[in-house]
Formats: sequence, structure tokens, C-alpha cells
Amino acid sequence: MAAHDLTLTDKAALTSGLGQMTTKPIEHAGIPSVTMSDGPHGLRLQHPDHEPGQLDLRPATPATCFPPAVALGSSWDLDLAHRVGAALAAEAAAHGIGVLLGPGINIKRSPLCGRNFEYFAEDPTHSAEFGGAVIRGLQENGTGATLKHYAANNQETDRMRVSADIDERPLREIYLRAFERIVRRDKPWAVMCAYNGVNGVTLSENTRLLTDILRTEWGFEGLVMSDWGAVRNRVAALRAGLDLEMPPTGGRTDREVVAAVTAGELDEAVLDRAVERLVHFAHRAARPAGDGSTAPYDEHHRLAGEVADHSIVLLRNEGPLLPLDPGSGTVAVIGELARTPRFQGGGSSQVTPTRVDIPLDHIRELADGAHVEFAPGYPLADGPEPDADPTEVADRAVRLAAASDTVVLFLGLAQQDESEGFDRDHIDLPADQLALLHRVLAVNPRVAVVLSNGGIVRTAPWHDRVPALVEGFLLGQAGGGALARVLFGAVNPSGKLAETIPLRLEDSPSFLTFPGAEGHVRYGEGVFVGYRGYDAARVEVAFPFGHGLSYTTFAYRELSVAGADDGAGIVVRVTVANTGERAGREVVQIYSAAPAGSPVERPIRELRGFASVRLQPGESREVTIEFPRADLAYFSVRDRCWRIEGGTYRIEAAASSRDVRLSAELAVAADADTAELDVRSTLGEWLAHPIGGPLLLERLARSNAGLTSRLADDATLRRAAHNVPLEVVADFAGGLIGRDELAALADRVAEATG
Ligand code: BGC
Repeated sequence: MAAHDLTLTDKAALTSGLGQMTTKPIEHAGIPSVTMSDGPHGLRLQHPDHEPGQLDLRPATPATCFPPAVALGSSWDLDLAHRVGAALAAEAAAHGIGVLLGPGINIKRSPLCGRNFEYFAEDPTHSAEFGGAVIRGLQENGTGATLKHYAANNQETDRMRVSADIDERPLREIYLRAFERIVRRDKPWAVMCAYNGVNGVTLSENTRLLTDILRTEWGFEGLVMSDWGAVRNRVAALRAGLDLEMPPTGGRTDREVVAAVTAGELDEAVLDRAVERLVHFAHRAARPAGDGSTAPYDEHHRLAGEVADHSIVLLRNEGPLLPLDPGSGTVAVIGELARTPRFQGGGSSQVTPTRVDIPLDHIRELADGAHVEFAPGYPLADGPEPDADPTEVADRAVRLAAASDTVVLFLGLAQQDESEGFDRDHIDLPADQLALLHRVLAVNPRVAVVLSNGGIVRTAPWHDRVPALVEGFLLGQAGGGALARVLFGAVNPSGKLAETIPLRLEDSPSFLTFPGAEGHVRYGEGVFVGYRGYDAARVEVAFPFGHGLSYTTFAYRELSVAGADDGAGIVVRVTVANTGERAGREVVQIYSAAPAGSPVERPIRELRGFASVRLQPGESREVTIEFPRADLAYFSVRDRCWRIEGGTYRIEAAASSRDVRLSAELAVAADADTAELDVRSTLGEWLAHPIGGPLLLERLARSNAGLTSRLADDATLRRAAHNVPLEVVADFAGGLIGRDELAALADRVAEATG
């Protein structure tokens, strides 16, 4: 069915939705309807009797609630992410859903973003690998993915109007990078454009992002749909490259499209292009209806538990206090969150779980001979009605703590503290919980704190007083069992942080500019986001990016790096040994550091790849991590393209961004296609240029051998002349090379670089 076989009215109708989660069918043309669903970590299924087109806020039909991205990303295990994608596809197929609205891969620019739980990391390589793995799991199993929210949707404050004002380098190197990699490599069926604008242009009308970059540069061939309600002007949006408006507007914008085409204001070919993409999408994604009964929910619950096992991050373990001995002693489990767990975030991603594992039940179950007592300690809005006033509830918990050998204290954020739709204004735990923590510590120092939170919470200054600290984030419906397994050592923790926990919110690189004002947020920290910023400013942090402990220990040996210039990518090999007493898994991280004297400011280190290796006690294994040579590039604002600078890079094998175990040097040649030179290029730029440098030195030596050798020997002269345009240097040196000759020299460089 080609677009020109449809009427104008049909075409306008087709490019907006039918209901909240469906596209319009056109029966006489054989175009089916597609049913979509949020996303990203489970299906948010509409109630079976919902009215198409009506907003339905009733709880959705049950589906498996997998760990949200904050937890999945902390697993650093791409195989698990792929399996979650495949399981989501199976549940989608069972319900007749053709497309999932996820994954979300926005960068966690600030710890305050209310939606950080839905995103993977503060790093684009990590986000690209996780987003890609989930997408492959979905699409290899027949369900389309919708990569969202494109782009730079890094806050909830004023999200429908704010313009993220971002310089070109951070835009390319941080905020678009994961989108670029996934679009090129994993080919998602759809991309969802964000609510916000970038550099003054709202995303749904942003031709540069929706067409020039996404389609022309990256080759995207799928469908671009709006975020729900993100379209301000449908006609302008179609022109910019948006294909599908969601949800529908009761026909209002369809009529606007018809009127614009009729009046000659919108070229019908633009509408036809969107229609053709929509038709392709509809044929690809339409599914027969299903009642969901064929999905293997038990198996998926087990998978959700396995992911949770791998996602829990052991931040601290002095003594070591953990694991607890399941066979003896008395354990006080304190905190309403142990009985009323928080396992996902609020908003469009909220899933009605098929069942929920309660941490307290699983702790009781695993405690063979250990005696477990519980006290809620503080109330939660969605927990049971307290049977006493808050002081008495806290007093009882403190008395229980005093009478027990060990305390497991559950602390965290409640649903009202963080959600889609608003940002947090601080990162502290609730005051009543902090007060309880201090009272418990005063009567019993043997405390393991277990945290439940979607965005990170401040652990300083109290974490030094707590021997064990377990970051559970939001672990999905099977997280309760996983927490119990980690506490008693049935599972050896192996998750690592995909975002930094700062000592104070004020230390975070975006602190001074988040969330902006008057419709603009300026990304003033540039490329120095997350660990890139903390490292550059040499700021001490509570727990660095990539950090996570185990009940065993690992040693790193024999790092080797090869292959920078043969076009095949960079191959890093390192041997990891389990030097402790328990089987465990180590996440090895590979960072690169650019050569000294870069032409642009570069982060101290940047993640390039990672691998997860499972080892028995005493076992060692070589792991291989490859990444494309192109990852070493920075985005040159001047030349409007990626540039690899030549020189010696440092490649690091690390257990966290601040625990580098081994490093090696890697010589990298500059791009053949290097920057252009002219007579206004500085002496420094000429000398650094692989072709221009030798040419100039040779020419200088012919006219003034003395100057050439002084430049070689006199560091002060070299430094002072570094920033001086070549034609000025030539004048200063008594016009030793004429202007015409300098221009000819620049032409020779241009010819040689093609
Ligand atoms: C969210 C999207 C979601 C959509 C549909 C929006 O408010 O930003 O992530 O997919 O609603 O529920």
C-alpha cells in the first residue's frame, strides 16, 4: 500500500494514534493497528475494558516487574539485559503487543532527576551497551523497541517546555552518544522524541535532531513517535521529521494537517513520507490480540530474581559484618521497607506485578537457626497503619536493636519522594529514618543498612559508622528474595554503581545549573558529567562510579592492549583471579585516558568497555574487551566532526573509576583526515599537525636554521609562540617566509590530507 493510494484525510488520521497506546488501522487499505505498551522494565497493560482514546488511570493488568534500569544497569551484565529484553518480548507477544515503549537511555546528569530510576547510568558507553542489549532481546524475539527519550531529557522540572542548552561537544560526546551507537548498531523500530527542547528548539519540531542527525547522519529508518503530548504544532513536527503523534487529540491536529496541505502550506510529500514509515511499522508490529495467559510468569519471576541478585551493590563491608550467619544469633530486621518493599518507581513505567517478594519473609526463610525479629521503626504512606504513634514505633525498634546480636536496617525513599513528573530537591534520606539510624547505632554498632531508592541518596557522613551498607536501589518484584540471599551469603554480591554517590549534592558537577530557570537549563559542566566531573575537579566522593564489593577478592594481572591502528578496533586483555574463599563475579572496567596536551579539555578517564567474569576460588581467567578505535575521538566543534588525536593513550583495567588496577600505554596515530591549516593557524597547531608540522619545520630550517633550533631547545619561546598565528610568527621573524609562500604551504597540507 503506497501513501498515494490513501486519501488526504486517511493520511492525516494515520499519523496520529487511535487510543492511548494504539495506532489507527485503515481497514479498506489493509493497514492494521499496532498496540504498544510502557515500558521499560515490564508491561504496563491497560485495563482490558478501557475505552480507546480515554486516559485510564486504573491499575494495569499484572505483568512481571523486572528490576528498573537503575538496578539492571548496576549488574553490568549484558547477558542478563538481553534475557530481560527477550522475556519482555514474550509477555508482549502473549498480550498482542507489538512494541514496547523503552528502553530509556538518558544520561543521569544530576542525582536529583526524578526519573533516574528509569535510566541506566551517568556514562554513555554503559547506557549504550545496556540499551542495546535490551533492544536486541526484544527485537530478536519479535517485539519492537522504542528508544527514548530522544534527546537530552535529563530532568523532570518543566520537562514539557524547558530547553536543554548544550554545547556541541557534550551534546555529541555525552547526550547523543548512546542514541547514536544504538541507532546505528541495534536499529530500534522506533525512536520517541522527548518533551523538552535542545538549544531552543523543541524536540518534536527539531529538524536538526530528528532528520539531519538521526536520519541523515546515523541512517535511522524506523518510526519517530512523539512522547505523549510532546507535539506543539503537528504541521511543524511533520516537517521536522516526526511521523506519529501520540496520543491522539480527538482529530484536532489531523484537521490541521489536512488544512495545511490543502492550503499549500505543507508539502503532501512530507506527509506521505511519514505515512510510509507508519505503514511499514504497522505491518511489522501488528499482533493478534492475546490475553497474556501463554507467558511463563513463574520463569520470569525467577529471571527477575536472578537479575536482582546481580544488581545489588555492596558499598561497604567492614569486619566483614556480612554475610550474616544463617545458623545462629539474633537478627533485628528494622524498617517498614523490609515489610512493604519499594521495588519500582512511579509514573508511566509503573507495572502491576504478578507477585511481590517481601524481604522480611525471605530473611525469615533463609535464617535457619538464626532468630529473626521485626520492628517497622517508621511508617510508610503505602504501608500498614501504624499501631502506635511514631515515637513509640521508633522506640520499639531501638529496644529490639539493643537486644539483638545484629541489626539489618532497611532505609530508603518512598513513592512520594521520587517519581516521573518531578525532580527531587535534595538527596537525603527522610529525617525520621536518619534519626532512627543514629538511635540504633547508639545501642548496637553491628548494623547492616539496606537501601531502597531509585535515585542515589546521600550516605555521608553516617556511612563511616555503619559497618555494612547494601545498595538495593529498586529491584523489581523479586528483589526481596535477592536481598535476603545477599545478606546471608547465598548470593555473593557483584553489582557495581553506574553512577557516583557524592559526599554532598553540592559536589555534583551539574549542581549550579540544574534544573535551570525561565525555560532554559544550561549544561554548564560540558562533558564533565558524573565521574568525568568529580575526577576533573579532584573531588572526593562517597562511592565512585563502578564501585561494588564482593565477599571474595579479585586480583588483576597481565594487561595487554593491541590493535589501535589496524582498523579492527582496540583489543584489551586482562587476567582476573579470584583470590578469596568464595565463588564470585567481578566486573572489569576498561577506561581510556587521552594523551597529554589535548587540543580540547578531556576527562581524566572515560569508560570504553566492561566485562563480567565468574570465578571459583583460586580460579583465574583472561577476559577480552574490545572497543572501536573511533571511541577515542572527541567531537571537534571547529571542524564539525569526530577527531582522533595522535599520541600515547593510557588504557586502564579497573575495579572502579577510582580503583585502577593496571594500566598500559597505547600509541595511536592521528586521523589521516586531520584539521585544515591556514596562515591564521597557530604555530602550535602547525607543529602538532602530522603533515603540516614536518613541512613547516623543513621550510623554516631553510630560511632560518637558528630559529628552528631555538624552537626545539627553548621551551619558553616554544610556549610563547605556541598561540601565535603562523603569519604573525613569520612577521616577527623579519618576514622570513612571505605570505604567499605560507598560503602555498597550507595548500600543500590540504592537498596531502585530501
Ligand atoms: C513518558 C514516556 C511514556 C509515555 C507513555 C510519557 O509521559 O515520558 O516515557 O512512554 O508517557 O506512557
